[in-house]
Amino acid sequence: MNGVANLSLAGNTAVGEIAFIDLRAQQRAIRTRIEARLKAVLDHGRYIAGPEIEELEALLAEKTGAAAAVACASGTAALIIPLLAAGVDTGDAVFIPAFSYNATANAVLLTGATPVFVDIDPATFNMDARDLEARISDVKREGKLRPAAVIPVDLFGSPADYRAIGRIAAREGLFLLADGAQGFGGRLDGKWVGDLAPATATSFFPGKALGAYGDAGAILSQDLSVVERWMSIRWHGTDSARKNSVCVGFNGRMDTFQAAVLLEKLAIFDEEREARQAVAAIYDRRLSAIGRPQQHLAGAQSGHGYYSLRLFRRDEVAKELKARGVPTAIYYSTPLHKMPAFERYAPARPLPATEEVANDILSLPMHPYLTPDQVHYICDCVEAALR
Ligand SMILES: Cc1ncc(COP(=O)(O)O)c(C=O)c1O
Repeated sequence: MNGVANLSLAGNTAVGEIAFIDLRAQQRAIRTRIEARLKAVLDHGRYIAGPEIEELEALLAEKTGAAAAVACASGTAALIIPLLAAGVDTGDAVFIPAFSYNATANAVLLTGATPVFVDIDPATFNMDARDLEARISDVKREGKLRPAAVIPVDLFGSPADYRAIGRIAAREGLFLLADGAQGFGGRLDGKWVGDLAPATATSFFPGKALGAYGDAGAILSQDLSVVERWMSIRWHGTDSARKNSVCVGFNGRMDTFQAAVLLEKLAIFDEEREARQAVAAIYDRRLSAIGRPQQHLAGAQSGHGYYSLRLFRRDEVAKELKARGVPTAIYYSTPLHKMPAFERYAPARPLPATEEVANDILSLPMHPYLTPDQVHYICDCVEAALR
């Protein structure tokens, strides 16, 4: 999902330049405040573990309803740390959707465990709870791996089915870790992503709905008792006095400059979130008759980090949109089980919904600074391309 190339502005259109994600417009709105925050860090000089880290952690927990937040170096670090803390290890099966960014699979493999790919729901693009049950049965029947954990992904910002997956995880004794790297701002049954699973990893990669000016992430916990261990792992496994190694860890910390930037971005997050909802509402209204926009669970609201839909003649539409100055992206044209690094973990039983969606998915520009005219122009272009 790290679409750095897509952050740049596209060419001029009838309604001005349309960016896939517009970080410049956001920066214009809050530049003075960000500069003041960065200056404060330069003044106190605590580039690692500065006061902004704890300030951010407290605000992230407050915003999401989580018991605690642990700031991390990246979303990937935020996935690896809770897996290590839960003791996930060689010989363990970790169930993940086959339709995700490669970081979900990498995090599992870096702990020594084995990813077991689960199919998605072709409407929500998120892990299919019924297929999860079938894959758990497969693993048990084969008897080679121990079912240990499940990592649903909130694809494009839409919360996964934590109700059903939570029940399965509890019944099967699986550690439930939410990959909310794309999910920040999503809600289910009135709760925020971050408070929908015992542990949630999120990413603050610059292009995410809440993005830093570099790499950053966080783990959110419903349970205070795990936090000390997570903090230790993110600091090379040392104790809080920084004297002894108490477990295996690595450098998984967020640096203070990123926390300073995130504090100012968090201050405008609700406003931006509403603007994203308004953009998505126009897209949904205009495009539901000609494509299949991502569906959200009843009781769920996407954070709309991205706006994606399934479209007939997807590749031709993308080409035509590009010619009309509308940048698009395909997340993901290759499912994880077909990538060279992971194909040895491809299951014997197929993953039909994953493969179907990979063939016709397209992501349209999504950011809070798109004007209604621009969104309508994009919809006009999609309509024209399909005519
Ligand atoms: C689903 C998913 N998981 C994990 C990550 C990893 O986050 P990061 O790039 O911050 O390490 C990403 C990043 O794009 C992602 O989209």
